[in-house]
Amino acid sequence: MKSSKIAGLGYYVPKNVYTNEDLTKFMDTSDAWIQERTGIKERRFADRKGETTTTMAVSASVTAIERANISVEDVDFIIFATLSPDYYFPGSGVLLQRELKMKEVGALDIRNQCSGFIYALSIADQFIKTGMYKNILVVGSEKHSFAMDFSTRGRNVSVIFGDGAGAALIQPATDGSSGILSSHLHSDGSYAEELAMHYPGTSGGKWLENKPNWSEQELGGMFVTPEMLENGALYPYMNGQEVFKKAIVKFPEVIMEALEKNNLKKEDIDLLVPHQANLRISKFVQKSLGLKDGQVFNNIQKYGNTTAASIPIALCEAWEEGKIKDGDLVCLAAFGAGFTWGSALIRW
Ligand code: UT7
Repeated sequence: MKSSKIAGLGYYVPKNVYTNEDLTKFMDTSDAWIQERTGIKERRFADRKGETTTTMAVSASVTAIERANISVEDVDFIIFATLSPDYYFPGSGVLLQRELKMKEVGALDIRNQCSGFIYALSIADQFIKTGMYKNILVVGSEKHSFAMDFSTRGRNVSVIFGDGAGAALIQPATDGSSGILSSHLHSDGSYAEELAMHYPGTSGGKWLENKPNWSEQELGGMFVTPEMLENGALYPYMNGQEVFKKAIVKFPEVIMEALEKNNLKKEDIDLLVPHQANLRISKFVQKSLGLKDGQVFNNIQKYGNTTAASIPIALCEAWEEGKIKDGDLVCLAAFGAGFTWGSALIRW
């Protein structure tokens, strides 16, 4: 079976920079608190009117396609990872297909949050290996800034997340030694509510407790109710400590799983590009694996946590900075909502 490789990378971040100091205008927080707990100095927020998850994905994709030396017409499948799609449905994959004026190719949206890019890459890898597709566009894009509580109530979540997009064009590897060596995917749904945007959704029955006399017509509008708005239930919820505790165990575990599968050792990793969840998590993972500073790439300081976009943005930036060379062993790893986690090992 053929293996697959990343033939082109691109990323896009919005122009609007919001420093930690800027956030203190809306909520009770401080630059010192945010930097100490997360390592974040600033993040980008999309232009409120002009930019969406899809428009950012378009910019990242155009670069990835160009760098793979193919044209838009050559792309034969799209995999789009996001938790902040333009619409509840349809997914953003079809919007990307439309905006890029692509052929009527298949477009698959996946919902694996921070692990989204690794899940998407793994799916692309399987399609390439079976010979079904030859040029798969894998995208992670997020516009978090449209659904965050920028008051003190939401500060534990809203200081962490930022907007942006990253894209990778996946092709069959031409030589026998380079490409995606393996990918490893996991989940544990018993933590589903610990990091979640519970509403809007179809689980809103609990809001009926205050509405015993609602008519059938009113019940048809249960998806979003004024109470949800008043109670801040339409914003993401995060039990930060629970996420942290699990992340620092699962990151090293899934990285070791990838290495062992390929008979490789920690020292063989040239660059680990972890999902940019929190700089403290990355440092913890680095320490527990005994990796040197130069073996781990972090850019959360500039962009915050961009969920499904964070790995392709970081990977692309690392590549642009010359930190990834042919023959290097690159490890990608992620952990996040679901909980879901995963890793991929790539011989560049
Ligand atoms: O991609 C995966 C997504 N998420 C993550 O990876 C997040 C993992 N978790 C974390 O990164 C950390 O748990 C956080 C950075 C979210 C929070 O750090 P923490 O050390 O776990 O803080 P905490 O939630 O235990 O809160 C400590 C204190 C609380 O005050 P009291 O109760 O001690 O008075 C919070 O109210 O810090 C307060 N606090 C803040 N203070 C200033 C929470 N958020 C903020 C804030 N600014 N932004």
